[in-house]
Amino acid sequence: MKINQLKLQNFRNFDELTLDFKKSVTLILAPNTSGKTNILEAIFYLASGHSFRADVEQELIQKDKNFANLEGKIANQEDRVILRVFLQRGEKTTILGKKKVEVNDVSRRLSSFLGNFQAVLFSPQDLNLVTDSPSKRRKYLDTVLSQTSSAYYRSLSQYQKVITRRNKLLENIREKNLNTEQLFYWNDKLLKLGQLIFYERKDLISFFNQEMKTVGEKFNSQKDNLKLIYYPSLLSSERLRAYQMKEIAAGQSLIGPHRDDFGFFWKDYDLEKYGSRGEQRLVILALKMAELSFIRSKTGEMPVLLLDDIFSELDLENRQKLTFLFGSQQTIITSTEEEVFEILEDLKDIETMRLR
Ligand SMILES: Nc1ncnc2c1ncn2[C@@H]1O[C@H](COP(=O)(O)OP(=O)(O)OP(=O)(O)O)[C@@H](O)[C@H]1O
Ligand SMILES: [Mg+2]
Repeated sequence: MKINQLKLQNFRNFDELTLDFKKSVTLILAPNTSGKTNILEAIFYLASGHSFRADVEQELIQKDKNFANLEGKIANQEDRVILRVFLQRGEKTTILGKKKVEVNDVSRRLSSFLGNFQAVLFSPQDLNLVTDSPSKRRKYLDTVLSQTSSAYYRSLSQYQKVITRRNKLLENIREKNLNTEQLFYWNDKLLKLGQLIFYERKDLISFFNQEMKTVGEKFNSQKDNLKLIYYPSLLSSERLRAYQMKEIAAGQSLIGPHRDDFGFFWKDYDLEKYGSRGEQRLVILALKMAELSFIRSKTGEMPVLLLDDIFSELDLENRQKLTFLFGSQQTIITSTEEEVFEILEDLKDIETMRLR
């Protein structure tokens, strides 16, 4: 899978920008604040349907402009697609006015826009995933799964709506002494959607564990060192019954995938508690390799790898390990430093772009 061209209009700091990616490795070299991350953010948007760093998508529209356009020309083994995103400024600063997505000039729902293009993003923030909050780890799983399974994406968005409605109801039961009967309807929905999310997350984590064994071997010739452990917040009718009083008292849904988490382990040590910074970084590197394989296994295509300024964050040893990631897929790398050339000099099919 390859992105051949990216076009931006009024996106972040770019009025107009067209980039043609001709080689399998593209190095984007530019000083700070010139828009390197913005470019990767735009590409990853085409794959994931959202920004990996803006909570309010309005931020993506250039200051003083009313709209932003993103376009990507994608080629895979089977066909070529043109993906477009159109964002319109809203009246309030916190809510986007309109978001439209198109595949080959045809307007689509986000659930069928996703799945046309896959990318793996590796940015400095990812290196904190081990110690970040559970919600960041859940978001990570969701981003991977939404790119490969539209059923997952649909269930997740419905699940989130169900949680909102159910929380409102729980609160009303508490405040207004309403009958609990209405809860059955929402419990049923919660169970169905929650199950699907649980099984897909479980499969993903067990795939990662299989993959990380191989990666562990590659990295330090010891088997079975890296491991993820899934901590699901399980849903069942029994558990929902058992939690009912507590949920009403809290006015909140207390169990289900929105409370899931997972942990990173290295030789049975919980890396969140005991891991050195270097080990925490290493396990994320391994995770990213596993993510590439997962997407390939689901789609039959290698996703595009986006590396945002990652060299500056890694020590020499981990930099060398990073080169395991190059090779079989299109890779777009950003950096401010000339020294990345030392790592990239052996690569053949490489081009350099300079912004400004
Ligand atoms: N909506 C927007 N309108 C105009 N400019 C914006 C908008 N959002 C972000 N910018 C600007 O885009 C610039 C580039 O940001 P970006 O994070 O892509 O830089 P970078 O090249 O990755 O820098 P660094 O090397 O520091 O990571 C910043 O100066 C920021 O102020
Ligand atoms: Mg940046």
